[in-house]
Amino acid sequence: MSKNKIYIKSYGCQMNVYDSNRILDLFKNKNYEITKDPKDANLVVLNTCHIREKAAEKVYSDIGRINKIKKNISKDNFKLVVAGCVAQAEGKEIKKRAPTVDFVVGPQSYQNLPDMLEDSNNFISDEFTQNEKFKKLLYNSSGGVSEFVSIQEGCDKFCSFCVVPYTRGPEFSRPVGDILIEIEKYVNHGVKEIIFLGQNVNAYHGKGKDGKSKDLAYLINKVSEIEKLSRIRYMTSHPIDMSNSLIEVHKTNKKLMPFLHLPIQSGSNKVLKDMNRKHTVDFYKRIVDQLREKRSDIALSSDFIVGYPNETDKDFEETMKFVDEVKFVIAYSFMYSQRPGTPAQKKDNIPLQEKKARLSALQSILKEQQKNFNKSFIGKNIEVLFEKKGRYEHQYIGRSIYNQSVFTNSEKDLINTIKNVEILNSTDFALESFI
Ligand code: SAH
Ligand code: SF4
Ligand code: F3S
Repeated sequence: MSKNKIYIKSYGCQMNVYDSNRILDLFKNKNYEITKDPKDANLVVLNTCHIREKAAEKVYSDIGRINKIKKNISKDNFKLVVAGCVAQAEGKEIKKRAPTVDFVVGPQSYQNLPDMLEDSNNFISDEFTQNEKFKKLLYNSSGGVSEFVSIQEGCDKFCSFCVVPYTRGPEFSRPVGDILIEIEKYVNHGVKEIIFLGQNVNAYHGKGKDGKSKDLAYLINKVSEIEKLSRIRYMTSHPIDMSNSLIEVHKTNKKLMPFLHLPIQSGSNKVLKDMNRKHTVDFYKRIVDQLREKRSDIALSSDFIVGYPNETDKDFEETMKFVDEVKFVIAYSFMYSQRPGTPAQKKDNIPLQEKKARLSALQSILKEQQKNFNKSFIGKNIEVLFEKKGRYEHQYIGRSIYNQSVFTNSEKDLINTIKNVEILNSTDFALESFI
């Protein structure tokens, strides 16, 4: 008998990718094979994202495409599952809009999926069962050099534009011991880099062996004791949770990479207040100063939203000024997207043309900063962890300590090795070297 096959697509953030890996683990354990072609699959899982309208709408067009496959290949055991944050936010409405969907599972209850498939009355699972979820999941390495590890989930911050507190539920931190067991598994499989994940990763407060709550700085130090592990990163952090101990660990822990993704969203105090971000621009700048005091070369990245309701030209100019002052090595910027259920929902009052103009102005300065940062490495040596083969023969791609992509050529297999390489050239987005 031929094996069942699963196809999964991730639409969202790194945590969404991590969840997809865990869903694959569950079905590999049920003897499923993974396929990269939905036409070959009996089980299609769309692991969705609800953060902006575009991301959420993409799912429905994909469901249309899957329906065609369903019709053309008449398989009696073909199931379509919508998982992830759209599943959580829109639950039963999905069935109304797309009746061909067989099951809906939210991001905090997908551990139930294999059982649900056995019982077709069980259409939806959308409870917040973080505790039970992490206990039931399996943690198999995806075979790469670097692995994501979710250490914290959910959010209690309620920024007024954001769906995450509703789709992922309240903040939850996994116990230190469970995280260590998961990481040991990956490291024994050859993994050299761990990236801690959480919607508010630096709000981590998991239980230690002594039953007391531990912070992220503690966890970083604890995990760095694993000898065969070379690199640690974490994302995404909120400025108000950048504690002194976490800032200090950027100086004292050599396995912690000198790169930090720290979203601010806007350079205007008025907009930050409207967004319910709970910090000012000066507060953010102070954190940056403290970080640079401890680790002068730390590379910073951020997220920005332009065209937030009532954002004036002056507010936007303040964002541009802020970026010019702080300097980011990479940053992600988005036009404000009105999201159902969020407090900012009814106020989207900046015309699309204006949003586009602001986005383009912001992205051009951010791109310039990224290009200049990359250029500054030409002629210098930098430490790179090589992750995969490139498109060309003998080409390898790795990541620098500052998280830049580095392309190089080598006759020898470089995968999963750390090398000090000389940078010969740079592009807007990457570095190039030869070994
Ligand atoms: N937890 C992180 C990231 C959350 S989502 C944080 O606290 O910053 C990732 C990014 O998506 C956000 O940083 C924000 O820039 C963007 N985003 C979230 N909601 C959005 C919306 N409604 N419209 C546009 N961008 C949004
Ligand atoms: Fe969303 Fe704000 Fe929570 Fe980040 S901190 S996940 S932006 S609500
Ligand atoms: Fe999207 Fe959910 Fe992540 S909304 S960004 S997949 S937490």
